[in-house]
Amino acid sequence: MALERTFSIIKPDATRRNLTGKIVDRFESAGLRVVASKRVWLSKAQAEGFYAVHRERPFFNDLVSFMISGPVVLQVLEGENAIAKNREIMGATNPANAAEGTIRKDFAESIEANSVHGSDAPETAAQEIAYFFAGIEIVG
Ligand code: PPS
Repeated sequence: MALERTFSIIKPDATRRNLTGKIVDRFESAGLRVVASKRVWLSKAQAEGFYAVHRERPFFNDLVSFMISGPVVLQVLEGENAIAKNREIMGATNPANAAEGTIRKDFAESIEANSVHGSDAPETAAQEIAYFFAGIEIVG
């Protein structure tokens, strides 16, 4: 299979607990390569735009407030079957339902503070990568 790219966020609960390296190690150990990375503190407008698809959901304001509560690490991950592989490594959205050995099972605090975001499909991966990265910042 051809190389695929996915978009990842290490969320504020994880950066606050200094877990960035441990989470990146999970990606690399699974064969995913970090081809772009930056640590930023999102603005409210950036977070609202990124999660616009969830605007009508009851947790939208809480989700945006959480995502701007501290620094995040934005990354592009590359590898074979990268989108599905990353979602497998992350585990279920709610850590209570996440499989043993996944990032969310091992590190997440709640469905809101769930340590990582990962794209769910090729179209969203392309959109999410383009939302935060210029082509020149991605080096495969
Ligand atoms: S999914 O994969 O899109 O079906 O997951 P979903 O359950 O729809 O959740 C989408 C994102 O919203 C976050 N979320 C919440 N935040 C705060 N409070 C509550 N109750 C809540 N429920 C879901 C969830 O962590 C997902 O974040 P991302 O960054 O997309 O993984």
